[in-house]
Amino acid sequence: MNQVDYLRISLIDRCNFRCQYCMPEGAELDYILQQQLLTYEELLTLIEEVFIPVGFTRFRLTGGEPLLRPRVVELVGAIASLPQTQDLSITTNGFLLAPLAQDLYNAGLRRINISLDSLDPQTFDLITGNRGRSRWEKVWQGIQAAYQVGFNPLKLNVVVIPGVNDQEILDLAALSIDREWHVRFIEFMPIGNSDLFSDRGWVASEQLRQQIRDRWGLTESQVRGNGPADVFKIPGAKGTLGFISQMSECFCDRCNRMRLSADGWLRPCLLNETGEIDLKTALRKGINPTELRERVRELLNIKPEINFKQRDSGTTGTYRRTMSQIGG
Ligand code: GTP
Ligand code: 5AD
Ligand code: SF4
Repeated sequence: MNQVDYLRISLIDRCNFRCQYCMPEGAELDYILQQQLLTYEELLTLIEEVFIPVGFTRFRLTGGEPLLRPRVVELVGAIASLPQTQDLSITTNGFLLAPLAQDLYNAGLRRINISLDSLDPQTFDLITGNRGRSRWEKVWQGIQAAYQVGFNPLKLNVVVIPGVNDQEILDLAALSIDREWHVRFIEFMPIGNSDLFSDRGWVASEQLRQQIRDRWGLTESQVRGNGPADVFKIPGAKGTLGFISQMSECFCDRCNRMRLSADGWLRPCLLNETGEIDLKTALRKGINPTELRERVRELLNIKPEINFKQRDSGTTGTYRRTMSQIGG
C-alpha cells in the first residue's frame, strides 16, 4: 500500500479566473462564507497536531486561487518552518504571482505549479473566462518572476481541450527545451459543469506524446515524481514533459494524497466524496487532537477502498463540489 503523506490544502474556494473546466460563471453562488473558512491558526493546529503526527510531511496549497487569501506569505512561512515539513508547494493561476514571488521564496516556498493553458492571449481568455483586458501577459510575467527568483521545479499545467488549445501542444512542449520548465499536459476531466467545453471530450496523453515524438523524439524518465504525472523529456531539453492521464489511465493505485477543503473537510479522494470528515466543526467543538488523529487514521485505513477506480466504473466520480472547491 502506498504511503499517504501528501496533503493538498485548499486555502479559499474563490478565484479571480473562471476557467471553463473548473468554475465557470455561476459557480460563485455557493462560496464558502468567511466565518466557515479554516483560520490560519486552525489550519496550523490541524497540521501540527493532527496531520504531522499521523504521517503527513508534504503539503500543497491550492484554491480556488490560493494567492487571493490574505497573508498567504505568512502562512507559507509558518508551514515551511515546521521541522517535519519535507515539501511545501503551491498551485496558482499566476495572475497575482509577480509581486509575491520573491516574498514567497523568502518565506521558504521552493516548488510552484502554474496553470498556462495557452500561449495565445485570446484562447487563454476564452479558457479562463475572461471578458475584459487580456490577462495572459500578467500570468506570463508571473511565470518569469518565479523563474528569476529561483523556484525549482517550476511546473506549467496545461489542461488540454480538444479544438480549443490542442493545436498548441508543440509550442507549449517547446517551453521545456531552453529553460528548466516542466510542462505538464492534463487530460481534461468533464467535471466543471462547463456548457462551453463539456461536449468536447478529451485527448489521450499518448496521442500528444506521439505528436511530440514525431517532432523531436521523446525519452521516458526513469524516476517517477511524487504525483500522478508520467514524466518524459525531449532529448537534450533542460526541462521535462509530464502527462497526467486521469481519463485514459487509472493511477488511483499509487495515490499518496488527501485533500483538505477551505472549510475544513478532509476528503480522501479527488474523484470520490465518500468518507469526507468535517475537521473544522470537530475542532471548533473542542474535540481534542487525539480524537481527531484517530478519525484521520481511520480514514487513512479505508482510503484504499475509497480510492476511485475510474477504469472499473467508467465514470468520473461524485461531485457535490466543483474542482475549485476541492482544490484540483
Ligand atoms: P506535484 O506532482 O506534487 O508537483 O503536484 P500535482 O501534479 O499533483 O499538482 P497540481 O496541483 O499541479 O495538479 C495537476 C493536476 O493533477 C490537476 O489537474 C489535478 O486535478 C490532478 N491531480 C492531482 N492529484 C490528483 C489525484 O489524486 N487524482 C486525480 N485524478 N487527479 C489528480
Ligand atoms: N480537468 C483537468 N484539470 C483540471 N484542473 C482544474 N479543473 C480541471 C479539470 N476539469 C487543473 C487546473 C490546475 C489544477 C490544480 O487542476 O488546470 O492546474
Ligand atoms: Fe481558478 Fe484554477 Fe479553477 Fe482556473 S483552474 S478557475 S485558475 S481555481
